[in-house]
Amino acid sequence: MSELFNCHNINDFRKLAKSKLPFPVFHYIDGGADDEVTLKRNVKSFEQCDLVPNVLRGVENIDLSTKIFGKKIDLPFFLSPTALQRLFHYKGEMAVGQAAENFNTFFGISSLSTVSAEEISKLKGPKIFQLYYHKDKNLTKNMIDECKEKKFDALALTVDTITGGNRERDLRTGFTSPPKFTLKSILSYMTSPSWTLNYLFRKKFDLPFLSNYVGEGSNIAVSVSDYFSTMLDQSMSWKDAENIRKYWNGPFCLKGIMSVEDARNAVKIGASSIMISNHGGRQLDGSRSPFDQLKEILDAVGGQIEIICDGGIRRGTHILKAISLGANACSGGRLYLYALAAAGKDGVERSLENLKNELIRNMKLLGCKKISELNRKNLRFRND
Ligand code: LAC
Repeated sequence: MSELFNCHNINDFRKLAKSKLPFPVFHYIDGGADDEVTLKRNVKSFEQCDLVPNVLRGVENIDLSTKIFGKKIDLPFFLSPTALQRLFHYKGEMAVGQAAENFNTFFGISSLSTVSAEEISKLKGPKIFQLYYHKDKNLTKNMIDECKEKKFDALALTVDTITGGNRERDLRTGFTSPPKFTLKSILSYMTSPSWTLNYLFRKKFDLPFLSNYVGEGSNIAVSVSDYFSTMLDQSMSWKDAENIRKYWNGPFCLKGIMSVEDARNAVKIGASSIMISNHGGRQLDGSRSPFDQLKEILDAVGGQIEIICDGGIRRGTHILKAISLGANACSGGRLYLYALAAAGKDGVERSLENLKNELIRNMKLLGCKKISELNRKNLRFRND
């Protein structure tokens, strides 16, 4: 427990996660594509601008609530859908979902979730289902049907994984799902005994959204990148995205929009939200960061669609910068995944608490009492 209280920021959780996970699993979370230029840029880009505070504004009460996907949430950020969470902590998605529910913010369930729609729907907190558009159209349709039946609040179609990114760390470590105990990695699994015992002797690893349809990803050890390249439909088009939006018929988000042109198309097909995202730097290396792209997308389609800045968030001030620019909310994966790996639900809660405290403290220091008071006057870009 004391190690948890020594985690004051996301980087502290990263270090703790590194000490607990077998190295192939840690590097799967931590790594990006190619030279990891985009991975680093996603965080770095928040240093491109500075906050400009106002004082003497009576800031004793701070309200962090906002509305997204048609629901009021208590934080201006949420937990992006991420895959395979059972590999990071044996309680996986349930631990993350409970933590999110306790803070009343959204969390995402991936198509590659290790719990079923049925199980996760026992949690009443707001949730998003993340959809991969598979070649197998029955599989894709079945996932949407399950989430409709279980009353998920929103659907996010991922559009930036049309083929697998080149994740060289995974190639080196031999990371697959489910994990293969190779000669190279066996020592690492043996020296992470608590992870390994939990993995081997608790509930069997499964990907319930897939298991009735495909062997790949559920039984056969493949890399995530190979999974994308072989299982997902590379012919996916704007028409397909529109058809999914119509079929889902609820709050609909495109996850992985980076250009103004695509943001305009998202508005045209009737999407309610976009997540400006490069998949955590795990797909197209050299791609711009979400925060770098935020302003021009906001200037083009702000007010016509909800805009979420996803990626690179490591501090409350990063969230404040994105929202001051005009984003409706922020989201991230690693911001809670390291904490999940470090200490399950308690870890995720501690990491959300840290970010919440940072937001409250820094809103006070900025002179803003509620999210709607943040605006571009609070920001100055270095080259302005
Ligand atoms: C990844 C997918 C599964 O980036 O979201 O590994």
